[in-house]
Amino acid sequence: MKHKEILHLLETGIPENMAKNVQKTLLTAKGRHVFTRGLIEFSNICKRNCLYCGLRAQNTSLARYTLTHEDILAAAKNAASHGADTIVLQAGEGCVNAGWLAEMVTEITEILKLPVTLSVGEHPRKNYALWKKAGAKRYLLRFETSSPELYKKLHPGYALKDRLERLFDLQSLGYETGSGFIVGLPGQSLASLARDALICKTLGLDMVGIGPFIPQKATPLARAETGSMELTLRLLSILRLLLPEANLPATTALATLDPADGQTRGLMAGANVLMPSFTPEAHSKDYTIYDAKAKVAIPCAIRSIEACGRTHSLRLP
Ligand code: 5AD
Ligand code: SF4
Repeated sequence: MKHKEILHLLETGIPENMAKNVQKTLLTAKGRHVFTRGLIEFSNICKRNCLYCGLRAQNTSLARYTLTHEDILAAAKNAASHGADTIVLQAGEGCVNAGWLAEMVTEITEILKLPVTLSVGEHPRKNYALWKKAGAKRYLLRFETSSPELYKKLHPGYALKDRLERLFDLQSLGYETGSGFIVGLPGQSLASLARDALICKTLGLDMVGIGPFIPQKATPLARAETGSMELTLRLLSILRLLLPEANLPATTALATLDPADGQTRGLMAGANVLMPSFTPEAHSKDYTIYDAKAKVAIPCAIRSIEACGRTHSLRLP
């Protein structure tokens, strides 16, 4: 697919025959199984000031937390007992001690025998190498937008070029690498979104996470318009066709905009992964990247998957 065709699809929607092709591609490349990543948001401390995100350093209204080693292990065990097939450790940027995180990765890998995915932002290559050696298999680092100008505006003091270099570092170290972007950022055009999708293909990503922009009240973009659900679903279908083998999550942001059907709609549009949070209740309310963030409970995740006739390994312990 070329840029022009993608742009047209974003403007007019995915025609029925193409939607059928998306389903066919999904089933051939990934099968009917929906994989479940157990997300543990282990710290909401962040040194960056992304204009859209409630965890930005300048937001002083937020109670900051970092889970202890024991809390993380307990949360990971909880995720494993519900049938999660991977543990994702996510946090803001610049708060983690690299050695401590390496130990955490090794312990989870050895005790629970589950692959660990990290999502802790931009770091020097030596940290990525340390975590890889400790056993981390995958890394998620969204590029957020492929427009260098918009990237600079939304991420004061940072450049898209550096972000992409970190992604190359991760790939060259042998990580299964995930990235992705936000849909409906203020100042983002459809042409820019079409480029976002194409860059995912060029990067040859193993995972692509996309979600609609949702305003957060303690950010400079508090009054900006919410991103479109429809556009996000169209992009998921386009990504499935561009990258048949990629793991595409139906993200929590979809469930936030449409609590009843968001995740099912994501799965129908081409997604094959859910990422329910296992962050302990006491802290998950402080992981406010955006407002009214949905908590995807396991029975709901099971319903979403079964509603579209797909299989999973989730269970209620
Ligand atoms: N709306 C939607 N997505 C957001 N993220 C951060 N803030 C928002 C927001 N307001 C996304 C970013 C980040 C991921 C963890 O959450 O893409 O990479
Ligand atoms: Fe920090 Fe990530 Fe939020 Fe940016 S999007 S402020 S890096 S947590």
